[in-house]
Amino acid sequence: ANETPQWRPLLHYTPRRNWMNDPNGPFFYKGVYHLFYQYNPEAPEWGNMSWGHATSTDMLHWHEHDVALPFSETKDIFSGTVVVDKHNTSGLGTTDNPPLVALYTSVFKKNASNAPDVQAQSLAYSNDEGRTWKSYHKDPVLTLSPPSPHFRDPGVFWYEPGDYWVMATVVANAPKVKLYKSTNLTDWTLLSDFGPVGLVQPGIQWEMPSLFPLPLDGNPTQLKWILMLGVNPWGVSGGSGSIYYVGSFDGTTFRPEGLPPEGAGPAAYDWVDHGADHYAAIVFAGLPAARPVTIGWMSNWDYASQVPTAPWKGQMTLPMTMALRTIDGRPQLCLTPDGHYTALVAAHAALSFDGMRLSSERRLLPEPARGQVMDIDIRMHMHGADRAGIFVRATVDGHVGTKIVYDMKKQTLTVDRSRSGQTGFSPRFSHEHSVSVPAPAGEVSLHVIVDRNSVEVLSRNGSVVMTDLVFPPADAERVMTFSENGMTEFSHMKVTLLDRNQE
Ligand code: FRU
Repeated sequence: ANETPQWRPLLHYTPRRNWMNDPNGPFFYKGVYHLFYQYNPEAPEWGNMSWGHATSTDMLHWHEHDVALPFSETKDIFSGTVVVDKHNTSGLGTTDNPPLVALYTSVFKKNASNAPDVQAQSLAYSNDEGRTWKSYHKDPVLTLSPPSPHFRDPGVFWYEPGDYWVMATVVANAPKVKLYKSTNLTDWTLLSDFGPVGLVQPGIQWEMPSLFPLPLDGNPTQLKWILMLGVNPWGVSGGSGSIYYVGSFDGTTFRPEGLPPEGAGPAAYDWVDHGADHYAAIVFAGLPAARPVTIGWMSNWDYASQVPTAPWKGQMTLPMTMALRTIDGRPQLCLTPDGHYTALVAAHAALSFDGMRLSSERRLLPEPARGQVMDIDIRMHMHGADRAGIFVRATVDGHVGTKIVYDMKKQTLTVDRSRSGQTGFSPRFSHEHSVSVPAPAGEVSLHVIVDRNSVEVLSRNGSVVMTDLVFPPADAERVMTFSENGMTEFSHMKVTLLDRNQE
């Protein structure tokens, strides 16, 4: 395929070449962020699954390293997590130089001694700050009996109140989450099963479980537990998507609160992201509890292999800090771009277009509001308009652009990428994604992050996020505001160009 540098994101991680899916084992240690990921070292298509590796000091500029956990004749390496074993509970390091411990899924290939295609949990560790990894002598450390071909994606964390490690895994097709405990990361005993419950639909797979606590409304005495899962298909915008449940965890069992009635469809559930391209999100280990940062794979299993980028395929979302806030009377997960990103934006001069009033018209933002990578902050007040919003990555003539529109009658926010550029590479590349955003007074705030091939829209305190890939022509660099069937005031409109005059 022809190379597509015009779609190489500036702010989002991509491997130099070849295929990438899920983030794996992200952790922060000694001032460095580590990111591993599902990687095919040999081709821009899924296969030969291994853990690729990149490091960064701000999660915006990444340095790619050699493959950390390579596939072999006998097994592929599927997703998992890394923990910093501070107290050397595993005995695989010392307390002075604590080991980094990766729990990942081994997929034992046919013709290996194990039963065909068995998935089980394995351990690797590093004594040199993540540079090199050794396999634990006992492999795997956790198998289902009877062995299962669907048992994967260990998400491990330290459960402080109980003084033990907890591992969440899935039996993807059951679908269920299984929780285990361990005091040394190598011997695991079953705590409980979660599921099938919640969003259960024909053919659904649960993948990539993360269980973590968040204080409700910043109140540490009101700790809730979040179970974040990838579901595929039946994502709220089609294909794969990131769902979450809010509940309690007593060290043994996760109990969700406020579940929709049995049989309810995807729209009745809570989603980390309502766009099409957010999946397999997990949480960084080694960061303070007050700064829980998540990162996801910015693609969708419906069309990931057809995405027209080369020589790489696959990219990550921006890292986002999570909080749990009461909105509309119930706890909702809220995402904000991580502080490093906010600092990057603040270090650039912003262009202001405050107080613009539009009546049933489109208006191109004047130069210099022009670029392929930008941060846009908007507060609009609809005075009679039916719909209002912006086009990003738009051409001057308005023929191309990704539309971000609020609909007053429907009270919904929509990202429409039907005219965003290249869309025909897969019939499953969905065009419109909508989410309910109540704004009876017509006041809507939007934070839009535009990169060379993506749009991330945040609203309502980050409780609404929509992440979509787009493949615009390089000359689609403009922003166009619009108001349909009436007046809209853009009381605040700030554009920060991130690909000009910097670095
Ligand atoms: C999620 C997933 C995981 C699995 C990995 C394989 O996208 O299917 O369940 O471990 O990808 O690459």
